[in-house]
Amino acid sequence: MLEQRKADHIRINLDKDVSSSLTTGLERYRFVHQATPELDLAAVDTTTALLGKTLHAPVLISSMTGGTERAREINRRLAHAAQMHGIVMGLGSQRAAIQQPELADTFRVRDIAPDILLFANLGAVQLNYGYDVEHCREAVEMIGADALILHFNALQEALQPEGNWNFRGLLKRVEAVCRKLEVPVIAKEVGWGINEQTARQLAEAGVAAIDVAGGGGTSWSEVEKHRATSASQRRVAARFRGWGLPTAESILMARRGAPHLPIIASGGLRDGVDVAKCLALGAAAAGIARPFVKAAAMSAQAADEAVSEIIMELRVAMFAAGAGTIEALRQAPLMRMTNDE
Ligand SMILES: Cc1cc2nc3c(=O)[nH]c(=O)nc-3n(C[C@H](O)[C@H](O)[C@H](O)COP(=O)(O)O)c2cc1C
Repeated sequence: MLEQRKADHIRINLDKDVSSSLTTGLERYRFVHQATPELDLAAVDTTTALLGKTLHAPVLISSMTGGTERAREINRRLAHAAQMHGIVMGLGSQRAAIQQPELADTFRVRDIAPDILLFANLGAVQLNYGYDVEHCREAVEMIGADALILHFNALQEALQPEGNWNFRGLLKRVEAVCRKLEVPVIAKEVGWGINEQTARQLAEAGVAAIDVAGGGGTSWSEVEKHRATSASQRRVAARFRGWGLPTAESILMARRGAPHLPIIASGGLRDGVDVAKCLALGAAAAGIARPFVKAAAMSAQAADEAVSEIIMELRVAMFAAGAGTIEALRQAPLMRMTNDE
């Protein structure tokens, strides 16, 4: 069943329009253009560090897939691009491979991406359904990950007839995992964002970073709408297309709630200018999911081009904003447009 669900998720994301009806909110921000940047574009430096590892650019291929043959090929193409460009990659939820160890290989990419910062992935709610730190360790060891993402997808589970609906008492269990696991734990949403109070609670629980995965991009209520088996389920899911905290808003909220943690921005980012804006809003790195899976489903070359274009756009944005380093970009002023501009 888990394998089928993974196959459905890829198919629906590739074939259907599953965009949120929200926007990310990033369109309301603009850099102050510098006509005299006093920089050499060739020397603009996108290098930065996250969780102690150096990245060539603060870009993350967000957690997506694994568990099927097609997913294996997609993961390997994405991992190859991540290694070539020195960026971060997250694998999709590994629950299927924990339950069926013969699927583990569809998640493994270390042989072709030995140097990248690599994130394992499990649903946080599994900690209420029999999973403990041992399962978390297994997910990390299965793929040689540097850190574990626990994703919080309450609304998605709520819209699945077979979903895990009990999110009570989860923070305590997350805290126990953070205490016992040997690698850092990252808390992540899946496209509805993380508010200030949640960010504070997650920081108190001991997570090492927060990925806001805000609204404005892929909508998991829309994905579940396409998986629904009755007209009634479809109608209920359709009501949530405009749900969530827009990504720009969520970055600011998470920064207020967890000022000392690195914040990863994601949810609806579609180019390197979006990435640059997120960094200027205070994010340490920025993740992109659906555009990368679409490219990787086409070819290895398309995956490579998708990553290299994002990095080029980021570099050009830094140049034109007068920011020669990621540190300078994070200090660069953004203008907030009102509705009339
Ligand atoms: C095909 C697909 C599968 C996904 N599977 C997972 C997953 O297993 N675990 C997870 O944390 N997020 C998963 N996501 C969510 C993404 O990591 C991301 O948070 C979300 O899609 C918003 O980013 P986007 O607008 O760039 O697509 C998946 C997204 C896609 C497109």
